[in-house]
Amino acid sequence: MNGKQLSILDQDDSFFERKRSWSTSKHRLLLRYLQAFCYVLGSVSQRLNYVDGFSGEGKYEEGIGLESFVDKSPFWKSYNHKFSDTDGSPLIALRCSNIFHDEDRVRLNCFFVEANRDANIKLQENCESVSQNKFYRVYEPNKFGDLLTEILGDLEGLPTLFFLDSFGIKGITFEQIKTIADYLRNAKGELFLLFHNTTVARSAGQSTSTTDNPSSIKAGLTITKHLTNFLGQGSEEVWKSKWAELKSQPQEFERWALQYFKSRLIDEGCFQSVTSFAVKETYKQTRPEYSIVACSNKPDKAFGELLNDFIYHEKRLLFFKDSHQHQGITKFLENEWEREKAEQLKKLDNELPTLLASVGQSWQSVDKFITKIILNRDEIGLLSRSHYREAILELYRNGQLEARNLGKKGGVTLQSEIKLRH
Ligand SMILES: C[S@@+](CC[C@H](N)C(=O)[O-])C[C@H]1O[C@@H](n2cnc3c(N)ncnc32)[C@H](O)[C@@H]1O
Repeated sequence: MNGKQLSILDQDDSFFERKRSWSTSKHRLLLRYLQAFCYVLGSVSQRLNYVDGFSGEGKYEEGIGLESFVDKSPFWKSYNHKFSDTDGSPLIALRCSNIFHDEDRVRLNCFFVEANRDANIKLQENCESVSQNKFYRVYEPNKFGDLLTEILGDLEGLPTLFFLDSFGIKGITFEQIKTIADYLRNAKGELFLLFHNTTVARSAGQSTSTTDNPSSIKAGLTITKHLTNFLGQGSEEVWKSKWAELKSQPQEFERWALQYFKSRLIDEGCFQSVTSFAVKETYKQTRPEYSIVACSNKPDKAFGELLNDFIYHEKRLLFFKDSHQHQGITKFLENEWEREKAEQLKKLDNELPTLLASVGQSWQSVDKFITKIILNRDEIGLLSRSHYREAILELYRNGQLEARNLGKKGGVTLQSEIKLRH
């Protein structure tokens, strides 16, 4: 295999020295989702895949937030797990692979790509030290896009979770995402990728700035190409005119770009559902660090049931104070959290009439109704399923919904069927 060294990788050399809290949040979600993925799809296939397209070194020198999380989790407590705060996404996947193979649940094969030569060597060493069963492959240092055809061939049509954690807009093109979408249409699985809203906005600004300096002009053209490749063929005219329209309004361009990207993934990637959620460092932050875009062909289970509540709980953790000096969660900002929840419930009240009009016309179970409402909102994980259940029961009590198949005591249960009263 070609072991070409890359020159510019948007790499911050200090990235793997200390794990930041927003990386921890990403890692907890990955851990939760991988577990659910192995449990749900383990009943369909004895072999599953995990593809980590931007693996990094596998491990950080200093970390936070994973050990305190697994130690408090009733599920993980029942395992003799070895998760460590310093684990990066590859080691998290390998430890899951060890555990689920030990209990004969599933064989999780892990495929790792890391383009930087030094990071790739460290990744190989770190994987070697953790994996018990060697169900993994570290590709020679190369760009994910250049390896994609080979990787897809290695996956043998098995259900796969793709995790594409690139630094900016450069590592992945829309056309490559469409190739992954084609794979997932036949095999089962999901795609998670990072949308770096700040980089998207900064790139649009840099590529449209007027300058006479030849090297800046050249750099601008390169950035234009990367942003267009990322947002999809033919997007250049669209994003340039949106930038001109929105550039003076804080964050509006990046919000537009995220929605544009998601709708193209639905239209051209042909995913059944594409959702996203913002990852922040603190609950006060108004501009997220990035958004995770999640794509699935089985969104009811993957997003409506699993991911929604994972993200809701992750948001709740933002209200705890995590610190390097005092490992783990030390301070819970109860009032702030309650205030945020009240705000979200108010927003839901305002959105409910429109949501109901789109999902409430025919009989369906309360459980399905909740899922549909979740999937029809712009973002996932804003509230937990139990909040939606409560909002629906309130509508029933107010006479806005009809119900049948009531529970034994005459109450509405998750299996009862409801629809809008005309
Ligand atoms: C954000 S870090 C990955 C962190 C890792 N996923 C984790 O959670 O521990 C991104 C990594 O992608 C690598 N990289 C950058 N461009 C790449 C490309 N085109 N293909 C593969 N790897 C790339 C960088 O060297 C860097 O180590």
